[in-house]
Amino acid sequence: MLITIPDIFTAEEVAQARTILDAANWVDGKVTAGYQAQTVKENLQLPEGQPASVKVGEMVLAALARSPLFMSAALPLRVFPPMFNRYTGGGHFGTHVDTAIRTHATTGQRIRTDVSATLFLTAPDEYDGGELLVEDTYGVHSVKLPAGHMVLYPATSLHRVTPVTRGARVSSFFWIQSMIRQDSDRSLLYDLDTGIQRLAKESPGHPIGVQLTGVYHNLLRRWAEM
Ligand code: NI
Repeated sequence: MLITIPDIFTAEEVAQARTILDAANWVDGKVTAGYQAQTVKENLQLPEGQPASVKVGEMVLAALARSPLFMSAALPLRVFPPMFNRYTGGGHFGTHVDTAIRTHATTGQRIRTDVSATLFLTAPDEYDGGELLVEDTYGVHSVKLPAGHMVLYPATSLHRVTPVTRGARVSSFFWIQSMIRQDSDRSLLYDLDTGIQRLAKESPGHPIGVQLTGVYHNLLRRWAEM
């Protein structure tokens, strides 16, 4: 399941994040790439634990916590501390799959990467290229979102970022260990939750709402890993 979540950051938060990130010290993105990814990765990243990463990372986590759509789609157990990358001057990231288990450099926190997230911090008209291309059995999906919007996609999928040929593309990227390991199970719960929300809005107090809510929670109880 690939899902777009609009307005994770307000315009003010995007501006504040950009001011902090623009003044930070960026390093070669190869430092956090695994063996295969190193050979195809050409971008800049903020070192984990750097004050700018920590500050804007906390803003991202606070923004996620107030998003019901994020909660419903990701069913998060743990969120990896957000990281930041910058693509410019032809920078790109060739086809790769994200590392299954990640250990945070400074906190030592270890998570299984079930869901990958990219929060766009530059507007599409600020740069050319820089599309995130995610492959699944239905084909290749191209993602380039307004600043402040976020995409979630299964960390199991092959993906790449096309070369940025003008301007710069800045974003936050991170992973979520979900209570629901399998993408297909998570999608099913998301569809059910979306249907329940819709029923509650269109027919408030309808008795079927209670029944479906029961099914949702009983599936969650059956599948959730804590
Ligand atoms: Ni990746």
